Amino acid sequence: MVNVGVSRVVIICVIATACFVPKCSTLRSGAPPQACKNMIPKHGESPQKSPSPYTLSGEIKSGSNGDVVQVTIFASEGEIFKGFFVQARLKDDPSHIVEGSFIEDDMSRVINCNAAKSAVTHKNTKEKREFTTTWTPPANFNGEVIFRGTVLKDFKTFWINIDTLPLSIVGPSPQPVRKPVPSVNLYSDCESQKKSCFGMPSLCIRDKSCSVILIYIYREGEVEFEMTGALGSSDKYIAVGMSEDNKMGEDSVTECVLLNEKVIIRQSWNIPSTYNNEILKEPMGIYNQSGYYVDGVMTCRWKSKALTTMRNTVHNIVNQNYHLLLAKGPASSDGVKRKHSERAVSDNPVNLTLVSVVAGAKVPLFIKLHGSLMVAAWIGFASLAILMARHYKQVWQANTLCTVKIWFAIHRFLMLLSLSLMIAGFVLIFLHVEGWSQVKPNPHPILGCVATGLALLQPIMAMLRPKPDARKRPIFNWLHWFVGNAAKIVAVLTIFFAVSLQAANLPYAYYWILVGYVAFYFLFHLLMQLHACIMDRKRGTEIGMQELNGEERDSPKDAPGSNFRRFMLGIYIVIVAGLVTALVLLIWL
Ligand code: HEM
Ligand SMILES: *[C@@H]1O[C@H](CO)[C@@H](O)[C@H](O)[C@H]1NC(C)=O
Ligand SMILES: *[C@@H]1O[C@H](CO)[C@@H](O)[C@H](O)[C@H]1NC(C)=O
Repeated sequence: MVNVGVSRVVIICVIATACFVPKCSTLRSGAPPQACKNMIPKHGESPQKSPSPYTLSGEIKSGSNGDVVQVTIFASEGEIFKGFFVQARLKDDPSHIVEGSFIEDDMSRVINCNAAKSAVTHKNTKEKREFTTTWTPPANFNGEVIFRGTVLKDFKTFWINIDTLPLSIVGPSPQPVRKPVPSVNLYSDCESQKKSCFGMPSLCIRDKSCSVILIYIYREGEVEFEMTGALGSSDKYIAVGMSEDNKMGEDSVTECVLLNEKVIIRQSWNIPSTYNNEILKEPMGIYNQSGYYVDGVMTCRWKSKALTTMRNTVHNIVNQNYHLLLAKGPASSDGVKRKHSERAVSDNPVNLTLVSVVAGAKVPLFIKLHGSLMVAAWIGFASLAILMARHYKQVWQANTLCTVKIWFAIHRFLMLLSLSLMIAGFVLIFLHVEGWSQVKPNPHPILGCVATGLALLQPIMAMLRPKPDARKRPIFNWLHWFVGNAAKIVAVLTIFFAVSLQAANLPYAYYWILVGYVAFYFLFHLLMQLHACIMDRKRGTEIGMQELNGEERDSPKDAPGSNFRRFMLGIYIVIVAGLVTALVLLIWL
């Protein structure tokens, strides 16, 4: 491709020079084809070395059949230009002219460089402040291009190699097939370690499945950033923050917001110790920004100096490492960001001058401990304790432990153990969150507090309970039964809601294990209840389900069916221990 293109250019250029390009016609009627390659007008002058007073910008306009690009030449304040010559080049090999086509208008005419209409030049030498043209990529093209221009102030004064930022283009195709996005090509610079990459959710770079990815490279005092995100139906922004710690507050944020179908790039500042974010009127220290939005994917690029100042806070990426924060979320119709629907923090502070694949934060230790303690307490010990009180009063009737019936000793021990784990887990999470967590609308925190509150009521009620033969005893029995089961149900719901907590980063499999646990728990109780009914009928006595008063009474021997119950207990312990282990392992892996 490249070779064919280049040789064709050379041939065309040679023929063009030899045959029909009169000397010095250049400025009058635009660049001649021999200028195709180096884009230098043959005036015998050399290009200016000073910074160009002109800039080129490209904006992608996506249509139903591929993208077109609107390319604009701007003269800076007070400057004019008379002539220009613009081509599309491959970003990764700028010597290669991309074979798309420009359109002609009353200011411009097209030139056939390597292909028909692959360059555009001026038609007249009127003074211009701005010129805009449209470029259509070749069919099936999918890649990154830059637009390169030569702009002539007059005959002798001109600047060459004025480039736009790279643009990712998808050309028209017979059956337009768009890559699922963000496209897999994005990850090549991460894999080859040409650039640094940070994406979310964690490990998405390895799996090429990022919902938002930031790619950056530090070169000669400036950092080039590119951020791409697949927006969900309600998402309107993607943002990256730089922070000295891994929490919100005092962070400088660069954000790309979809506002009226256009991508705007701006900066904002997270105000410390609040969840507020203040949008800056003027970007501080970012420049050369560009952004576009195609088929649900937003891409924006910008550059920033190593040293920037925002809100009197100096950021210097050479002297200081920063945590990177990524976020994506909805915004109001006037572009004010709402709370993120997804976010990630780098595991460690990052040296932005070095190329690396930045690892996302692991789930904090306190959250892991909180989850594990709660699972062990509720799913493990408390449910076993409930089981003992429910179905094991008549088993081991002959023996006592610590002067009370065995079932009661085990129930009390397991409940106290589970209560201690629960309190530890409760304290840990409040220490971690430092206040009330902002996970609305997830009811996990509220349900968690209700479950813990109910659980704390239980030992208090138990200490104040009336004697087994007191008249008010049945009220206690009912209350204890009711509160205990309510706590258990609320706790299991709380754990279900933990799965959708971003900070817990739990896999979906968690739901199924929980569902399996609930199903097993119900089946088990059902079976034991059935068994109890059959045994009761045999014995001809009735056991009320709220009879919780066997603790201080003596009966000489095991009730009938005790062997079956003991066998079932073994099965219960093995299965629930397995489920609890799986639930805890998933928290830690
Ligand atoms: C029945 C068991 C559980 C109870 C009673 C419970 C209770 C709570 C409470 C009260 C909070 C709010 C803390 C605050 O706002 O300061 C909380 C937060 C949290 N819990 Fe649980 N929890 C339970 C199970 C779990 C499990 C199994 C996990 C899984 C890892 C988990 C993960 C979390 C996380 C990540 C938060 C912090 C949310 C945030 O602010 O981002 N919890 N929990
Ligand atoms: C990029 O920004 C620099 C500094 O502000 C400016 O000189 C240059 O012309 C810009 N380039 C483009 C393509 O906008
Ligand atoms: C980041 O890396 C560069 C290059 O190795 C080094 O000069 C700089 O001191 C590092 N920055 C920090 C804060 O460690």
